[in-house]
Amino acid sequence: MRLLNQTCLVTGSSSGIGKAIARKMAMEGANVIINYYSDKTSAEELAHDLEEISVDNEMMVVKGDVSKQKDVDNILRKTIDKFGALDILVSNSGIQIDAPSHELTLEQWNRVIDVNLTGQFLCAQAAIKCFLHQGIRPNISKAMGKIIHMSSVHEIIPWAGHLNYASSKGGLLMLMKSLALEYGKDKIRVNSIAPGAIQTAINEEVWSSKKGMENLLKLIPYGRIGQVEDVANAAVWLASDESDYVTGTTIFVDGGMSCYPGFLDNG
Ligand code: BGC
Repeated sequence: MRLLNQTCLVTGSSSGIGKAIARKMAMEGANVIINYYSDKTSAEELAHDLEEISVDNEMMVVKGDVSKQKDVDNILRKTIDKFGALDILVSNSGIQIDAPSHELTLEQWNRVIDVNLTGQFLCAQAAIKCFLHQGIRPNISKAMGKIIHMSSVHEIIPWAGHLNYASSKGGLLMLMKSLALEYGKDKIRVNSIAPGAIQTAINEEVWSSKKGMENLLKLIPYGRIGQVEDVANAAVWLASDESDYVTGTTIFVDGGMSCYPGFLDNG
């Protein structure tokens, strides 16, 4: 119960990593806002499941596209109306639209940047406004607020054929660090999680075939694909006071993918 009496918004939590994070946050006692873009049924089922296992923490489901200012404002307004405060933002929404770079359309470029980078900016800005307005909430958390950006190993690993995605995550690295620098004095902690290959729908095309999985495992020194819970455990720690001295950093949850596995027996 590390997050008792805290309120946590998880964007893009109707599936995958976001869903697992919403679950762990609820299990730690937090009120959770489950934000979804299109899958209402799955978001509502999750809220229902979490209410069954909760103590007196509550869940709320809110639709919204994080790349739209008015949607983000609406999510935050509903959060404050119901819970009175926001303590934790897990800015998790992200998409991939892949194409060879010489064929990538401006529309595909913009959509990924809009969701993965501009969406992170809009949500972080809205959360920071809330935190500054609330001030530190004694007996709730040592920090005034906590922001966790969902990044990727591709914030540092270049990725051919995924130009928009890798560029969005590279940009996110500086967004996170610049915010951590600017709001450290206010005791707002800003960090990222960089997952490697986690078994979700986003990379199903790769892990669902034997050959794809074999190739993928060559990139993972630890020898297994990641599970959503691996990421959720890191998120809960970053949200809790156990990580009170941690800000402006990225935690890689990648089984060693960012350790240049090509150099294991080469170079
Ligand atoms: C991507 C996945 C990919 C992983 C490792 C993630 O950020 O969303 O599709 O498997 O990085 O390359």
